[in-house]
Amino acid sequence: MSQFDIAALLEELTVEEKASLVSGSGFWHTTAIERTGIPSIMVSDGPHGLRKQPGDGDHVGLGQSVPATCFPTAAALGSSFDVDLVRRVGAAIGEEARSQGVAVVLGPGINIKRTPLCGRNFEYLSEDPLLSGVLGAALVVGIQSQGVGTSLKHFAVNNQETDRLRISAQVDERTLREIYLAGFERVVREAAPWTVMCSYNRINGVYASQDHWLLTELLRDEWGFDGLVVSDWGAVDDPVAALAAGLDLEMPSSHGAGPAQIRAAIAAGELDEAVLDLAVARVIGLVERALPVGDQTEPFDEDAHHALAREVAGECVVLLKNDRAILPLTGGLGRIAVIGEFARSPRFQGAGSSKVNPTRLSDALGALQRRLGSDVAVDFAPGFGVDDPEADDDALLADAVRAATGADTVLVFLGLPASYESEGFDRTHIDLPADQIRVLAAVRAVNERVVVVLSNGSAVATDEWEVHADAILEAWLGGQAGAEAVVDVLLGDVNPSGRLAETIPVRLGDTPAFGNFPGRDSEVVYGEGVFVGYRHYDLVDRPVSFPFGHGLSYTTFDYSDLEVAVVDGTGRPGGWQGAERIDVRLTVTNSGTRAGKEVVQLYVGALDAPSPRPVRELKGFEKVDLAPGESTTVSFVVADRDLSQWSIRSHGWVLEPGRFEVSVGASSRDIRSSATATIEGPRPSMPLGRSSTLSEWLDHPVGQEVLFEALRTSPSGDLTPMLASEETLSMIGSFPLTRLAVMLGDAMGPGAVDQLLADVSAQ
Ligand code: BGC
Repeated sequence: MSQFDIAALLEELTVEEKASLVSGSGFWHTTAIERTGIPSIMVSDGPHGLRKQPGDGDHVGLGQSVPATCFPTAAALGSSFDVDLVRRVGAAIGEEARSQGVAVVLGPGINIKRTPLCGRNFEYLSEDPLLSGVLGAALVVGIQSQGVGTSLKHFAVNNQETDRLRISAQVDERTLREIYLAGFERVVREAAPWTVMCSYNRINGVYASQDHWLLTELLRDEWGFDGLVVSDWGAVDDPVAALAAGLDLEMPSSHGAGPAQIRAAIAAGELDEAVLDLAVARVIGLVERALPVGDQTEPFDEDAHHALAREVAGECVVLLKNDRAILPLTGGLGRIAVIGEFARSPRFQGAGSSKVNPTRLSDALGALQRRLGSDVAVDFAPGFGVDDPEADDDALLADAVRAATGADTVLVFLGLPASYESEGFDRTHIDLPADQIRVLAAVRAVNERVVVVLSNGSAVATDEWEVHADAILEAWLGGQAGAEAVVDVLLGDVNPSGRLAETIPVRLGDTPAFGNFPGRDSEVVYGEGVFVGYRHYDLVDRPVSFPFGHGLSYTTFDYSDLEVAVVDGTGRPGGWQGAERIDVRLTVTNSGTRAGKEVVQLYVGALDAPSPRPVRELKGFEKVDLAPGESTTVSFVVADRDLSQWSIRSHGWVLEPGRFEVSVGASSRDIRSSATATIEGPRPSMPLGRSSTLSEWLDHPVGQEVLFEALRTSPSGDLTPMLASEETLSMIGSFPLTRLAVMLGDAMGPGAVDQLLADVSAQ
């Protein structure tokens, strides 16, 4: 039973009241209309933990927020490759939101990591749209399972912080569809977020907040979104244009400015009141959905959520290298040297609107000492200062070398200082601070057993220094219990199972967007097209330090018995995940001596699709937990949409029949088994138009016949012999038929091409 009679309310509300409803009240609330019983609801960040600001607050993370569990950031969560775990994180965040009376959580953020330089990459899941979409959907399902809404953000193509409120991302249609929109489409279709947050930037010159195609034609009409579109905080440039484009709620409050412009536009006949009514109906619909959340203050179980944060962080840690199986540290540990300020002062989250006030915070030094007790001597030296211009680098270095000398193992905690990455600005390089690398090299010179633990929100280059480390653990920004999880992994209590959701390149100059990023004069050209992340490195066959999907374990896994079968292979392009598909099965065995989890990855490359095309793309993944010696069957279904590419000519997904290379492996560059699957069927024909070439006419099943007949019976006699020679065809095949017709003079007759097009449509 609906609580509000929306139609009656739309009648009853004045234009003034309606205009006030489509703009917020303060920073975090919707506007209430007490006269008609419409209450206000509260929204809060954020993606990896609640940031509820008491009072009116601010949105840039300056003010304090109520304590909440700080879960691993999205950069870490992406590496878990674990759908169920991410859903559980969502459920816990939803529960905390509900306990605070927060109706909508402003997340998840699923923008693609176009470049490691983006200052906000720590808030995003991956460089790959499938992984971002699947994990983003899991977060939405988890949060919304608690009766709390989500805000899928930042829609769309918000891949940098530089000039983020104005920058125009210049992206072609195929790249938009295949890379930047695909994750959003999946989450909208599969998880139905209550709200979508439009981004600050422009896309091909149009503000996302004012883009009718984006907010209405694509999001609602094509993908079936039935929720509310909210602006990013301050993203509305022209409130009237935004409303007309499909934006429902401007946030935060514009202190009456937006509503006044909307009223004036209606009064002047420039805006149809029905457009306002539609947005008002959606605002009331959201309020209605959120009402059961109310103003509750039911406590949540802080211990249980901290334990979950620790479990999750353990699943996100990526073991990049482990020479001589130096990890896990087991038996006779002797004396351990712990070097690096981050071991004492953890970097566990990023700065800006996602910044959580954690309920508690663990550090690796303390966690290690507690776990090892007094049997093992743990000797700490900070080694370097973090964001500390006063630090005496030489003295810190000397102290670190002293601690490392004679230690049985040295654990070096390196990472990016908070000043390097944040919402609001981008990095300019991908290096660790030089003083940290200097300390590592000096420690290595006096000790043979060195383990590096990294804390950073986006990829850092390892090429220069990895030689100094026997093992490297990428711990990302692991949330409030991240340090405990690192200790769990170091000591083997947890077998690492994180896999890279983003490539670690050798150098910045290798990265896909290099030379095009961050643009200039408020315009950034996405010149690399669909070749983002591993799609780029594989296309140009360039070495990387650690590939997408990579991560070691303390055990080993074998892949066998790959079976690939095409089902209903008729070559028909289908709709969203239609009937046509490739079924894949394989056996995975834990061939080592420890229990462990493997992330089985499925990649597909369309061998016969038009170039340029990616060599392989992630089309499925599954995390399996296996005891030593245990085997399991893993199956995947690759739907027709997954096999299709976007055609800018037909403005649609096209499944090109032909051969597909289906590969399974432990990373994008550790393919263990491959097979070829062939989808049979006619090549999809492109619609013919006035610019279609002779070859396209000859490729078109109907066009070919119509053209042939017209040439055979032309006023100047039979012209078909000109089609008989391969040599002639290769010369003139690329000519639009209209141009050939002109060159043939009257031979084909006046208006011949238009007549042919009419004949084709008539059939
Ligand atoms: C951010 C959003 C955030 C909002 C509210 C904006 O600056 O881009 O991600 O949800 O502020 O804090």
